[in-house]
Amino acid sequence: MTTESQTEPGTGLQFPTGFLFGAATAAYQVEGAATADGRGPSIWDTFAHTPGRVLGGETGDVAIEHYQRYREDVALMSDLGLQAYRFSIAWPRVQPTGRGALNRAGVDFYSRLIDELLAAGIEPWPTLYHWDLPQPLEDAGGWPERDTAERFADYAGAITAVLGDRVRQWTTLNEPWCSAFLGYGSGVHAPGRQDPAAAVRAGHHLMLGHGLAAGLLRSGGHQVGVTINLYDVVPVSEREIDVDAARRIDGLQNRFFLDPVLLGSYPADVVADLAPVTDFSHVHDGDLAVISTPLDILGVNYYSRHVVTGEANTGDDGHGGGGSASPWPGSEHVGFSKGELPVTAMGWEIHAEGLTSVLERVCVEYPPVPLYVTENGAAFADVPDSDGLVRDPDRISYLDGHLRACQAAIDVGVPLRGYFCWSLFDNFEWSWGYSRRFGLVYVDYETQTRTPKSSAYWYGDLIRGRLAT
Ligand code: NOJ
Repeated sequence: MTTESQTEPGTGLQFPTGFLFGAATAAYQVEGAATADGRGPSIWDTFAHTPGRVLGGETGDVAIEHYQRYREDVALMSDLGLQAYRFSIAWPRVQPTGRGALNRAGVDFYSRLIDELLAAGIEPWPTLYHWDLPQPLEDAGGWPERDTAERFADYAGAITAVLGDRVRQWTTLNEPWCSAFLGYGSGVHAPGRQDPAAAVRAGHHLMLGHGLAAGLLRSGGHQVGVTINLYDVVPVSEREIDVDAARRIDGLQNRFFLDPVLLGSYPADVVADLAPVTDFSHVHDGDLAVISTPLDILGVNYYSRHVVTGEANTGDDGHGGGGSASPWPGSEHVGFSKGELPVTAMGWEIHAEGLTSVLERVCVEYPPVPLYVTENGAAFADVPDSDGLVRDPDRISYLDGHLRACQAAIDVGVPLRGYFCWSLFDNFEWSWGYSRRFGLVYVDYETQTRTPKSSAYWYGDLIRGRLAT
């Protein structure tokens, strides 16, 4: 099967009635206003302000001023025809120290944003945690400490109690792999720690926080999901050493999260691989039952594949391998091959078929759960032409290929209910600063002018059913 379009992008793409099309952002990447209205510092404020952590010393202090410009931004979403907007709530904005009473001014921002979206007929899809842990909780030990899971559940209960009347669908965590393994393993994300055992504990406590929050929210009548970043993982050859390395990476990338959340257990091979790192004594009786609280949806973020080798390599290969510390606890000896496919500006191979594979895999290996692609998209070096338009045919082709991959999954029975493009806007791409542009909408960071790229118009036409069928 090929998912590459041979004709005009979008031709023949058809989705079931009710399929939801949206776009996504996250608080620290777009909001700015880092100290406004009582917002406290998060680990990303601290990290970005530490020299050498983010390319060019850039921070999310100002970002794209979504905090001030949300009305204009919602109007743009409406012009483009978006049906849903996935955004995140900054925990330190609504509960500045991570404990205690909510900060009314911070909550009001999200309340106004939700009202604005609903008035425009756009469904709000909030995520409760997209990586911005309140700094005081990190000072108390962060995600490697069990108490952080309890704090997260308290925050989730408090914020959904005030905003829940207008939100249909809550997502607890975004990509716990990144929070745990990039934050506490390789240290390329906040808080920048390099401690494999802490990374594994962080992963568990993130999932525990998810489970505690999911139980609370569901008992309050809310629908709950969690978003996991899945990769198509393949060995570079059929050699036993490469096949085993691919099994390990699949274990840490995909099954370490999918199994506890959907099956209520850790995969035995991953526990065995991690024996030199941890004895799992941080897992208490009953934790896995909490973590596997039934879900209303599972969110899948998909960008690329990992081609894995049994030999470690050095240098940044775009997979988190190389560099000074590995994000793969207990598997530091594995490596990644570049592969032969075209890559995006992140150096990530473009492999749309992998999206069909991961969606099918979730269906085949786990109990049934409605799925949404909660992120998919690509960075390219977009520049406005002399006429001011931003033409991004490579992004259109990427989206077209991946939407065909979604359609292929639906055709074989995968209960895929919606798709969110990452991202609506160019924004702060974490340790890459503003150097990587993922947006459907170009942002001039000097003037904060928003210019929809050709992909934005294409996506809008697709949503409105205006493309050739
Ligand atoms: C995953 C993350 O959720 C998002 O914050 C990030 O910007 C994109 N992928 C692109 O790397």
